[in-house]
Amino acid sequence: MPNLESNTAGIISPNPFWLASAPPTNSGRQIMRAFDAGWGGAVWKTVGQPIQNTSSRFGGLAWRGQKGVGFNNIELITDRTMDTNFREIAEVKKRFPNHALIVSLMVESKEEWKEVIDRSVDAGADGIELNFGCPHGMCERGMGSAVGQEPEVNERITSWAKEFSTIPVLVKLTPNVSDIVPHGLAAQAGGADGVSLINTVKSIISVDVENFVPRPSVGGKSTNGGYCGAAVRPIALHMVGALSRSPEFRLPISGIGGITDWSNAVEFLLLGASSVQVCTEVMLRGYRIVEDMIDGLENYMRRKGLECLGDFIGRAIPAYTEWGELDINFESVARIDPETCIGCQKCVVACHDGAHQCIHPGPEADSVPIVDEPECVGCNLCEIVCPVPDCIQMVQVDNGLAEVSWNEHLVRNLRIREKKGSHGYDMPE
Ligand SMILES: Cc1cc2nc3c(=O)[nH]c(=O)nc-3n(C[C@H](O)[C@H](O)[C@H](O)COP(=O)(O)O)c2cc1C
Ligand code: SF4
Ligand code: SF4
Repeated sequence: MPNLESNTAGIISPNPFWLASAPPTNSGRQIMRAFDAGWGGAVWKTVGQPIQNTSSRFGGLAWRGQKGVGFNNIELITDRTMDTNFREIAEVKKRFPNHALIVSLMVESKEEWKEVIDRSVDAGADGIELNFGCPHGMCERGMGSAVGQEPEVNERITSWAKEFSTIPVLVKLTPNVSDIVPHGLAAQAGGADGVSLINTVKSIISVDVENFVPRPSVGGKSTNGGYCGAAVRPIALHMVGALSRSPEFRLPISGIGGITDWSNAVEFLLLGASSVQVCTEVMLRGYRIVEDMIDGLENYMRRKGLECLGDFIGRAIPAYTEWGELDINFESVARIDPETCIGCQKCVVACHDGAHQCIHPGPEADSVPIVDEPECVGCNLCEIVCPVPDCIQMVQVDNGLAEVSWNEHLVRNLRIREKKGSHGYDMPE
């Protein structure tokens, strides 16, 4: 039986699946139900000075009939009092001593940080998460992403938290920056025990074209919100991977953003996260999704012969490199399986209009198309549009060329140029 226990910066949970700080972690009763359902940890809905929320506050992105592909919110932090939140945190911890309970915090002054951290520790929390990521409302008051976007402020507040806290401190980073690494390093410099990312991406989810108002509309007006859900996963994976492979960055990571099932969670672990957090998918489908996540992860680990999470955390990092290090002589072509092809011609259209005009229709309107392999550049587009799973495979061709990266090629060319004294440029052989 694989061991699913996870350890993120000293915060231990029976499995790596945590609820992210959001509506599903708004109250003790909810978190107890979530732990009963199987979640290994939960990050409490951000605690601070209570706010007043707007009505409405969410927006969804539907795409070709599929609702909830992306999700947007203009919600702020908790609207419940600190007394209520800390009382319930203590109750949850009493009933679930072995689950991870992390309190997300966001306040303004140093004195307030001391107060909320002391109260989190007294309530028995396993860790705190500093919310430096919220991209609406709170940032306009100098909190949330306003902190996360300024490495100096991030480092300063993190160091206050470390001064006051006797439990692990996670810093939750905002994706609304051009390069995540300096922001992770700022948290590290402040003494953080770990980071969590991503918070939501600044966005306008859509515009009501009949009434000329962006969504969600609050009495005929709107504002930018935070984007999350499946659509943001690629952004989150990139940022987690960028930190993991940075030689200077050494902190554990809790990965967040668009996780919908066990395989998404594994992707984050392979890129270096030691736990994952989920919000939108739980809002859309409920706490019970964790059952499939646990089953799926266990099956995966059994199939791959993995005994514990440490056996595969970060395993994809060595294969994540710079473009200039890829083998530019590697060649693949598209091959169509005539047995499963339904003759829909989607690949023909895509290759002709969006790629390299090398898939041609067969003799009949619904024939299996023909790939002109010498002309195929192996771009994958036809495979992406084909509606039949595995019908188009990208197959490696042996072109007899030696492996060479762009960087190596540049160095070689430079030498040739120096020798010839020319500005001529030779393509790789
Ligand atoms: C309605 C809503 C409220 C949120 N509130 C908070 C919050 O109070 N504190 C926080 O750190 N993140 C908050 N988040 C961000 C989530 O914790 C998470 O970082 C983000 O949604 C990405 O994960 P997902 O794609 O699984 O939703 C909120 C997200 C949503 C959708
Ligand atoms: S891989 Fe690209 S170039 Fe090759 S057949 Fe498919 S769409 Fe055309
Ligand atoms: S898209 Fe796929 S199923 Fe459709 S014709 Fe091309 S190979 Fe066949």
